[in-house]
Amino acid sequence: MTVPPLSSTPEATTNTAMELKPAPVAQLTGPAAERSGTVTQAPDPIAPESTPESTPESTLELPAEPIARPRRLRRSSTLRRMVAETVLTAQDLIYPVFVMEGTGRVEPIPSMPGCDRRSLDQLLEKLQMVRGVGIRAIALFPVIPLAQKDAIGSESHNPNGLVPRAVKAIKAAFPDLLVFTDVALDPYTTHGHDGIVDEAGQILNDETVAVLTQQALAQAAAGADFVAPSDMMDGRVGAIRQALDAAGFWQTGILAYSAKYASAYYGPFRDALDSAPQFGDKKTYQMDPANRREALKEALLDLAEGADVLMVKPALAYLDIIWQLKAQTQLPVAAYNVSGEYAMVKAAAEQGWIDERAIVLETLLGMKRAGADWILTYHAVDAARWLRKQPVV
Ligand code: PBG
Repeated sequence: MTVPPLSSTPEATTNTAMELKPAPVAQLTGPAAERSGTVTQAPDPIAPESTPESTPESTLELPAEPIARPRRLRRSSTLRRMVAETVLTAQDLIYPVFVMEGTGRVEPIPSMPGCDRRSLDQLLEKLQMVRGVGIRAIALFPVIPLAQKDAIGSESHNPNGLVPRAVKAIKAAFPDLLVFTDVALDPYTTHGHDGIVDEAGQILNDETVAVLTQQALAQAAAGADFVAPSDMMDGRVGAIRQALDAAGFWQTGILAYSAKYASAYYGPFRDALDSAPQFGDKKTYQMDPANRREALKEALLDLAEGADVLMVKPALAYLDIIWQLKAQTQLPVAAYNVSGEYAMVKAAAEQGWIDERAIVLETLLGMKRAGADWILTYHAVDAARWLRKQPVV
């Protein structure tokens, strides 16, 4: 079958047999439409040469206006990979893990299928596997026994506490595995808030920052590569940076949870740690989901105070925030694909309602495309395995 030429001149239209009549020129808009009426215009140098079969009789015929064909670059998976603007790799991922006291203990977390809390010996075994699939970074969260919790989170800066002991053991076993530790009081307080609370139930800012600084120092002394303040107190990044430098830990990085929203998506994580707030909510320190400009304000403050990397949390409902921090600062940006986002995907996958692999890889790729250099995700191990078999394109 002869394909009708896509003519750009009225002459061509009239000289062409009826059945070969091209799409009406009137449908064209913009520069193409303007050119189509100009019989005297010079031939378009980049238009393909017309072949004898497709050239109408008229000597007035001008080269055909090529129609835009973006699909040409999607023809094969090789080509799609060559034009892919974003590539997801295991090196982008940070795997959050939960550590608890004891030995030989592995407790699954019901609202986070596939995740568990482990005693240190069991965690080390798991990390062997985690490294084996190509993941190079973990975020460590402790499950603190109730007996060690108090109103001011004293255990948070015990140099021989669970986190410092775990960091030392992990770095000794896997020196090349980057360890990120969480700086906040909620796993350590009886009330579950990230800071110190006064009689009126208010979260005290500066008193909390003083404790967080001690916590960060204990973690750095144990060998944490990055401390990650997730508490949202004002001024904590600067205070931690100064304290770290003064103690000689100038190489310890700060991954700042800069735009951490007061989110319902943290529910399963709080189950995992038994750390749900016992009264009130976290809205006086975590951000209002309604706000975007405020995220930039927080990020710029953290940057000025010495943060090395900025984080947005949660990720999926906050892709615009990720992009904004990426576009308006020079720091790497991390995104936290949090527990509630994970739980929703796992629940739907268990029902057979979605294709888990495809959904997870598309979601993580979307976060990267939005500007995330790093993604903290409970899907990290699965994603790394899937990416080994076949990169996403
Ligand atoms: C606590 C902290 C939370 C998460 C990470 N650090 C919970 C909270 O702020 O209440 C949530 C992580 C997740 O949901 O996966 N500072």
